[in-house]
Amino acid sequence: MTDTTLLEAARAVRENAYVPYSNFRVGAALRTPSGAIHSGCNVENVAYPEGTCAEAGAIAAMAAAGEYAIAEVAVIADSPAPVPPCGGCRQKLREFAVDGDVKVTMATTDGAELVMTVAELLPGAFSADHMDRA
Ligand code: THU
Repeated sequence: MTDTTLLEAARAVRENAYVPYSNFRVGAALRTPSGAIHSGCNVENVAYPEGTCAEAGAIAAMAAAGEYAIAEVAVIADSPAPVPPCGGCRQKLREFAVDGDVKVTMATTDGAELVMTVAELLPGAFSADHMDRA
């Protein structure tokens, strides 16, 4: 079952999204093995590719707090269907996920939910194991 606290954290931070270009607010929250929750929202920029996703913001908040492992993720947006993380964020989440079974709950503001693991979202992920210099 989805951690409702995690989803509520994602819902709350979504309010702070800076989205003058898309008007599409996204909130993300992640829980670390310590039990701490870190959250982030999307932050857009007039130079469009410079915008950052909510998931990336949550990961940055986690690192800023000195943590580098993800046990669970929740993402929420006002969308007709649960919004899956973009390709880049799938790679970012996989980097820190404790294993491939880490759950990502994708939710809509009107209550729909879809749960997938990071391994389902990004099968065959590129990892440090693919480099002999890690
Ligand atoms: N976005 C996220 O923040 N996370 C997602 O999972 C999907 C998309 C943002 C990026 C951009 O600010 C807006 O949604 C529209 O693409």
